[in-house]
Amino acid sequence: MNRTLLLTVFLLTGLAAMPLRALENGLARTPPMGWNSWNKFGCNVSEDLIRGAADSVVRTGMKDAGYEYVVIDDCWQVSRDAEGSIIPDAKRFPSGMKAVGDSIHSKGLKFGIYSDAGRGTCQNRPGSRGYEYQDARQYAAWGVDYLKYDWCNHDTQDSQSSYETMRDALAKSGRPIVFSICEWGSTKPWLWAGSVGNLWRSTGDILDKWDFHEKWGGNGVVEILDLQDGIESYAGPGHWNDPDMLEVGNGGMTDTEYRSHFSLWCLMAAPLMAGNDLEHMSDATRTTLTNKELIAVDQDTAGIQAKRVRKDKGLEVWVKQMSNGSRAVGLLNRTAADTEIEVKWNEIGYPEHLSASVRDLWAHESVGVHKGSYTAKVPTHGVVVIRVVPE
Ligand code: GLA
Repeated sequence: MNRTLLLTVFLLTGLAAMPLRALENGLARTPPMGWNSWNKFGCNVSEDLIRGAADSVVRTGMKDAGYEYVVIDDCWQVSRDAEGSIIPDAKRFPSGMKAVGDSIHSKGLKFGIYSDAGRGTCQNRPGSRGYEYQDARQYAAWGVDYLKYDWCNHDTQDSQSSYETMRDALAKSGRPIVFSICEWGSTKPWLWAGSVGNLWRSTGDILDKWDFHEKWGGNGVVEILDLQDGIESYAGPGHWNDPDMLEVGNGGMTDTEYRSHFSLWCLMAAPLMAGNDLEHMSDATRTTLTNKELIAVDQDTAGIQAKRVRKDKGLEVWVKQMSNGSRAVGLLNRTAADTEIEVKWNEIGYPEHLSASVRDLWAHESVGVHKGSYTAKVPTHGVVVIRVVPE
């Protein structure tokens, strides 16, 4: 073989062995955390609402717990001017978007905004198709740090190339902007989006319900959970599966169900975007959203998404490997009755006779050293989350 041929063979073999390239914008090394207006307020967004939400993130201890991005979802935009620049709703945002961003930044938080890869957003406001570079420059000028990019009105567009266009436009904008892909899992983004976005929605919209499926694609918490099973290996630092924003505190589930929803999202290394009314939330909601032991599971630097290792008539075990070798384990009871769930150490990747110390992350207490297994009482629709550390 001559030298050129040898080099070519070497390069091709090397390329074939390379894993899916990750988006190298240095952002979202752990799953992004913040608040988004959509789940609670829908189109009813305004600068007062956004400033109020940012104040509440600080006042309620959410910022201390790690919540950072304040994201305005759909309906902030109304039209384009003669030059094609996007025009915000002047009645709802009279000070303009730069001022809103400055106010969010002044509280030590980051500013997120929403657009759509098609010609219109899901609420039929102007989309970014054909205006990607212009919009990205505009967002950067406003101080935007995070873009959620939806998939309505995309006609015959190809998803991957549409999202790549905005990725490239953001890269040229001169500002680091987290890129949140929202195409609802429709073209299996986990297969292509690792090199395109920092996170990608893996399902249709979440509903404020435990167990429900709408024909248009809306899903309750456990339906979404089932759709994550099998795609966990695609997530990692800088590129996350996104099972949609949190419904915790929005009123459609019990506090136990909201604790389960939050626990499972943390185990899945999901982006944690609160979607409730922060100003008027109950103590139970605040306590759930700011459980620092659970948030530490979500934010673990290894970025390994939990796997379901057992599914047995509504009783499930989810295990997340942590960077220090310990495991975070969720014991989930989907049945209608309280029950006990046992997890054996050999189910979570440890030797059968290992002794391990166990900590309950909702009780915030150590529950002793256990050899071989641990059994917990789990209420209906509840989750017990433990941290298992080999002795
Ligand atoms: C889609 C998205 C939602 C939300 C709405 C806004 O349904 O999936 O998260 O952004 O659009 O119209």
